[in-house]
Amino acid sequence: MTQRVIPLADERQLRQQPAIPAELSAATGTLLDSRGRPVRDLRISVTDRCNFRCVYCMPKSVFDKDYAFLPRQSLLSFEEITRLARLFAAHGVTKIRLTGGEPLLRRNLEQLISQLGTIPQMEVTLTTNGVLLPKKAGMLKAAGLRRVTVSLDSLNDTIFRAMNDMDVPVADVLKGIAAAEAAGLGPIKINMVVKRGLNDQEILPMVERFRGTGHILRFIEFMDVGSSNGWRMDDVVPSAEVVRRIHERHALEPIDPNYSGEVAERWRFADGSGEIGVISSVTQAFCSTCTRARLSTEGSLYTCLFAQSGHDLRSLMREGRSDAEISAAIGLIWRQRIDRYSEIRTAETAALRKIEMSYIGG
Ligand code: GTP
Ligand code: 5AD
Ligand code: SF4
Ligand code: SF4
Repeated sequence: MTQRVIPLADERQLRQQPAIPAELSAATGTLLDSRGRPVRDLRISVTDRCNFRCVYCMPKSVFDKDYAFLPRQSLLSFEEITRLARLFAAHGVTKIRLTGGEPLLRRNLEQLISQLGTIPQMEVTLTTNGVLLPKKAGMLKAAGLRRVTVSLDSLNDTIFRAMNDMDVPVADVLKGIAAAEAAGLGPIKINMVVKRGLNDQEILPMVERFRGTGHILRFIEFMDVGSSNGWRMDDVVPSAEVVRRIHERHALEPIDPNYSGEVAERWRFADGSGEIGVISSVTQAFCSTCTRARLSTEGSLYTCLFAQSGHDLRSLMREGRSDAEISAAIGLIWRQRIDRYSEIRTAETAALRKIEMSYIGG
């Protein structure tokens, strides 16, 4: 089947966008990239391993028994992660999201959460597939975790088992959500990646299940992250269609973002039974307000989810560089940042070799 090409943004318009000179960002004390975007969120991948093999993220055909996951000594230690997080905080980061792979597979993760909690005004959150939450939610809460986001793509066991490809039943994730709620980690955001023909018939059942529970269900457009998930534009269900399909059943009204640069667009049920979100990374790119930096499992800094290469901060630390030197390196990398992949996505860019999401951190 042929790939539909998303038109390139108008190049003239792009050239007209003023770059913020580095001197200005230095003078105002705010670290800004070349398009005037500050760094606010740091997403940290704490492991590249996962107990799921979601077809859109870690397909078994690639992530099989021969796949070379990172050896333990390659991973950043908790001390190294916390040191870098402090340096990012000094540059303006106020929110850390722990990701992976499956972050709860990293041993003693609660210790990292309490270390990160010593950074003033830092909000620490986590995105997980949920199956280890019954065992860990209490410990995570006690360590200072604020809230969790749980991924769940379907309520139908056959579909869900096929999507996670490890035969994990829906009930295991629902138990995880319940455990997180009981531990005080709510309101919980539930992420559903929608892939046409695979789970789009699950949109309404998911709405029915989570409406009125206080949890926030969010629909994510299937993205061309990494190089192994066989992405095709035809498989993307545009958020506009998701909203329309829900609105036909339950009237929706748009609501303002919680903060500038929020990834999800928010909608509330007109009858007061809560809200949903849509994340339109493919059909309505949000690069112009992207304040996210990503730290890979082995300590490379990536300035875009779709980057083809990163900047090795682990070597700087292990070479014995000072905080001032590493902080200056981070500043330099961010000031030079030009990323806006989702605005310029085409069939050609989609086919480029990109870093896998499990390594770079979703
Ligand atoms: P909160 O507002 O704190 O809940 O954070 P968030 O919306 O960033 O949370 P979450 O980690 O759940 O992000 C949701 C999903 O949006 C991710 O899993 C990705 O699929 C997608 N996403 C997040 N950040 C980016 C980004 O920078 N670029 C793109 N293209 N997609 C992103
Ligand atoms: N497209 C969209 N979202 C994805 N995620 C993983 N791979 C993809 C993809 N190809 C999401 C998961 C989870 C988070 C870690 O990233 O659903 O919520
Ligand atoms: Fe694992 Fe999350 Fe990727 Fe699924 S989406 S394979 S749960 S990291
Ligand atoms: Fe940010 Fe890159 Fe995603 Fe655009 S594509 S929102 S620049 S991470």
